[in-house]
Amino acid sequence: MNISQNLRVVVISLLTSALLACSSTTPAPPAATGTVPRPSLAKAWQGQVLIGAAVDEKNIKTQGELIAEQFNSVVAENAMKPMATEPREGEFHFEAADAIVRFAQSHDMAIRGHTLLWHLHTPDWMWQGANGQPAGRDLVLARLKRHIETEVGHYKGQVYVWDVVNEIIDEKQPDCLRDDLWHRVVGPDYVDYAFRYAHAADPAARLYINEYSTEEPAKRRCLVRVVQGLLQRGVPVNGIGHQMHISVFYPTISAIDETLTTFARLGLENQITELDMSLYRWKDNRLYDTRENLLSLQARRYGEIMRMIHNHPDVTAVTWWGVSDASTWLNQDAPADHRDQPLLLDEHGQPKGAFWAVFAAARR
Ligand code: GLA
Repeated sequence: MNISQNLRVVVISLLTSALLACSSTTPAPPAATGTVPRPSLAKAWQGQVLIGAAVDEKNIKTQGELIAEQFNSVVAENAMKPMATEPREGEFHFEAADAIVRFAQSHDMAIRGHTLLWHLHTPDWMWQGANGQPAGRDLVLARLKRHIETEVGHYKGQVYVWDVVNEIIDEKQPDCLRDDLWHRVVGPDYVDYAFRYAHAADPAARLYINEYSTEEPAKRRCLVRVVQGLLQRGVPVNGIGHQMHISVFYPTISAIDETLTTFARLGLENQITELDMSLYRWKDNRLYDTRENLLSLQARRYGEIMRMIHNHPDVTAVTWWGVSDASTWLNQDAPADHRDQPLLLDEHGQPKGAFWAVFAAARR
């Protein structure tokens, strides 16, 4: 083969890869790791939806270039949670979160705020009153107010959307709210207060309820009920964050679609806030197929989800819960032979089939 024939073969094989990548069912991985130029997902989806990742103080240093290349939105994996920002009453620590905000700003990335109120990651002092007594409603509300005012105020004009409350829904409870200390000590209106405090601190910020398993009908019904109550009472809620820690086996794309439609019809925005797709079933360490087949299934389903999002102008951002398979919460506290690969980039930061499927799903 002469040089021009060689070039033709290369061009044809690149075109074939690109075409395969665009086909709806068979996203093409690169011919050999690291040899195909890596496009930017954020650029491919520009003007359609923000492409985000959960980051921490470490990976913005070690993988900063990759993060800035692939994503145009970030959320702090832990650095903005109450335990991190106010570990002792009145003592605020924003250093770790500030580093993430600075990183995002220096790369023109949007910043999600996560989270102001949660049943987990809340320091014990929140519940302690004087003389070893438990704190009462007024004290807890005053503390919540100061926490939210201070944190949202600190990031005013920088964090454009806040997960004001996280995981408050329990479909088994009569009022659909989790039976946690917020509910027991303050009562169900703690949700209203949290949103009102956040709105007062930054009236321009978009305010969200963030929740998991929102595609399950009972959970969805409860979330609708709680949100309708908030809207009727004039509470400033703008959107629903759907965590979407999902699996290659569930939920169905139509269940996700139905959930997004349900909240869009209430006039709310939707964001997918913590997306990852496990190769396993929840709390089950068996692999049900070859890794290769599961990764293909993962790619196909990621493509389907992203194509479905084209029908949802209500979805303004999709955020993955992590940057690459090298670091995912799904591998923490897992047995040694459990190796989940739920994200778009592999352990070496290289695109997986899932990456190409998400890339191919963008409108050109
Ligand atoms: C939940 C929380 C996140 C994170 C993940 C798992 O979904 O909302 O902040 O802690 O669990 O890591």
